[in-house]
Amino acid sequence: MAAGAQGISEHWSSRTAFVLAAIGAAVGLGNIWRFPTLAGESGGGAFVLFYVLCVVLIGMPMILTEIMLGRASGDNADAVGSVAEVAETSGRSRHWALFGGIEVLAAFLILSFYSVVAGWVLYYVWLSGADFLGAFGAFQPFAPAFDHMSQRQVTGMMGGLFASPGQLILQHAIFMGITLGIVALGVTAGLERAARTLMPAFFLLLVLITIYGAFTGDFGRAAAFLFTPDFSKLSPNVMNEALGQAFFSLSLGSAALITYGSYVPKGVRLAPTAGMIAAADTGVAILAGLMIFPIVFSAGLDPAGGPGLVFQTLPVAFQQMPAGALIGFAFFILIFFAALTSSISLLEGPTAWAMRRFGLGRRLTAALVAGAAFLIGVGCALGYNLWSDVRLLAFWPTFADNDILDSIDDLTGKVMLPVAGLGLAVFTGWRADRRLVEVETGLSAGMFLVWRGLVAWLAPAAIFLILLFGLFPGLLG
Ligand code: TRP
Repeated sequence: MAAGAQGISEHWSSRTAFVLAAIGAAVGLGNIWRFPTLAGESGGGAFVLFYVLCVVLIGMPMILTEIMLGRASGDNADAVGSVAEVAETSGRSRHWALFGGIEVLAAFLILSFYSVVAGWVLYYVWLSGADFLGAFGAFQPFAPAFDHMSQRQVTGMMGGLFASPGQLILQHAIFMGITLGIVALGVTAGLERAARTLMPAFFLLLVLITIYGAFTGDFGRAAAFLFTPDFSKLSPNVMNEALGQAFFSLSLGSAALITYGSYVPKGVRLAPTAGMIAAADTGVAILAGLMIFPIVFSAGLDPAGGPGLVFQTLPVAFQQMPAGALIGFAFFILIFFAALTSSISLLEGPTAWAMRRFGLGRRLTAALVAGAAFLIGVGCALGYNLWSDVRLLAFWPTFADNDILDSIDDLTGKVMLPVAGLGLAVFTGWRADRRLVEVETGLSAGMFLVWRGLVAWLAPAAIFLILLFGLFPGLLG
């Protein structure tokens, strides 16, 4: 495939830049909002253990697979072009690129609802910021001042937000606009610079809040909750949830890693990089659990709070903590940074594909993709109020009760990402030219065999079984 419509090849300026951007893509709402929510709802330890198993045995080898496919394709190819080119070089059908296509579509769909949820975060950045400033006496007339609210009123803020289509859409629009602004600047000036500034700030805040929670909250109970497995809780649905969460959180199956892999300069060793991405992402998810649950338990709140855990439960806890207004504000800024480095890469994947497919410039393409995702996101936002009766997946028993946002979330996370991963695992394990793969992964002979075994055998079999029983629970009788 040609090097790109404009013939401009973009690359990361260094290995560090690539690693930071890939970690930035991986670490996001998935770690701080979705992971604690799922762990809380699925009873803690058993979910966490199965999740870590999925990351190590399936996630890590698949990260290496996707980055490798991106780089093997040569200069500047997108998720579709990369797979097509590797297939062609290997003497196989270009139709394998279909799985790259699923990835691009999945990224686009995830972006649409991701930006809506990030909009809630933004709304809470304003709220907690005003609250914090209010604590100093400034903005008193406007500040909602959590201090003076009852617990019901604090919890009710989210209901109020959900009932207001205008507010939901406004925050969604602001967030999508910021994302577009960064992606329009390109790989080095946009993606790379954002990751370099936001990720260190993110890590600093994460560590500070976790330490604070460890001293003021119920750390022991949180650790017991997260690390003591109760295997009776491990249903096929919980397993499917954990696998889907591993894909989602690592940004697998959604174009990011293939696309980012194609911007990796030659000479960078890929395998250690894949390990670092998986370790950092999982570390942050677990730290987020250790940041959130001590606060939840010490305030006597319910860990199975669902999607409202971060937005309803935590503000109540912040209200009761010393310096809670400051901690709350820092917490929502932290999630906002994490969400932004992820949404950038969610937009980059489909944009890279569309740029080459339609031969348009970066800015125009990014604007068109972001605009289309924005419109779908508006549908998700309306799903909380005006369109709350709409059930997109009514025909599918497992998902029949889902509102619009949950439908798209489940369709991507529980179906599209694993299916794309399954296809690319089979392709890489059985169809791609072995020598090409060997050169690009740069593994020692022994590690190559282990990796190939996981990609060719374990990943496809595990993904297939988990999908089968997770999506069609009736099969188990
Ligand atoms: N990993 C991101 C998170 O945990 C979400 C995500 C899924 C993503 N697929 C992606 C981000 C692709 C960037 C690109 O929040």
